Amino acid sequence: VEIVSSLDALRSARRALQGTVALVPTMGYLHEGHLALMREARKRCDHLIVSIFVNPTQFAPGEDLDRYPRDPEGDAEKCRQLGCDILLMPTPELMYSDDHSTRVEVSGLDQTLCGPRRPDHFVGVTTIVAKFFNLVQPDVAVFGEKDFQQLAIIKKMVRDLNFPIDIVGVPTVREPDGLALSSRNRYLSDEERAQATAISTALVTAHRTWQQGERRAQALLDSAHKVLDGAVGLRPDYVQLVHPDTLQAYAPDDELKNQPAHLAIAAHLGHTRLIDNLRLDRPLAAGPLEKL
Ligand code: PAF
Repeated sequence: VEIVSSLDALRSARRALQGTVALVPTMGYLHEGHLALMREARKRCDHLIVSIFVNPTQFAPGEDLDRYPRDPEGDAEKCRQLGCDILLMPTPELMYSDDHSTRVEVSGLDQTLCGPRRPDHFVGVTTIVAKFFNLVQPDVAVFGEKDFQQLAIIKKMVRDLNFPIDIVGVPTVREPDGLALSSRNRYLSDEERAQATAISTALVTAHRTWQQGERRAQALLDSAHKVLDGAVGLRPDYVQLVHPDTLQAYAPDDELKNQPAHLAIAAHLGHTRLIDNLRLDRPLAAGPLEKL
């Protein structure tokens, strides 16, 4: 793996690659979820470029930018093991000059779920991802389905701005007890970690309720809330049943006939905010959720 931290070095390393290139943008502290993205990228293209950049513009004041976990040496070793060709690790100063003033905003899809709760977050994400797309010029870019709103917004940005890039989503990787892998899980105390499983259990419970034929939005939401209410110290931020493409929330008194349904949950445990989601009208993927 060639580790580059200047844009000139990136451009010349990129020019030297023959064949197709996949990009996996990350904020580092790589875990099995990121490695799944990298493996998928590796399968689809001749070359793999990974970026590690804790992007300041997607954190609001008071969020966890300063304490976001970092492990550059460990990350570089994982990239090496997975056959990554180029690892881009730029500094904030390199990505954002003092007079940087361009923002990429995908309006609409950021009006639901995490959008109103994290104003400017998705503008920060789409701006940095668009910059990486321009710098790397990948054929394919791979993102996790755990951040399914982010994935939907990036797909829309690529359509709107005509980036010639295939956006690929990879299913969420989970701990054996169902908790979705996230770099933020390391903030959890033992007690919080034990309570955190309520999030994936709530998703599976609603999935089961759907599979038993329930189509009333309120009843589906209630089945998830019942599980979350039983987790001491867990404070739901939102529990929403949305259309998977438009991300519009169904109203509690809606009865879903042939519409698809995606359940999304955000919850606080102490100072940590976790998100997870599950498509209700599809079978569960093989893995930990089946066993809950
Ligand atoms: O999902 C993430 O880790 C980040 O939001 C991303 C896509 C790397 C942009 O900073």
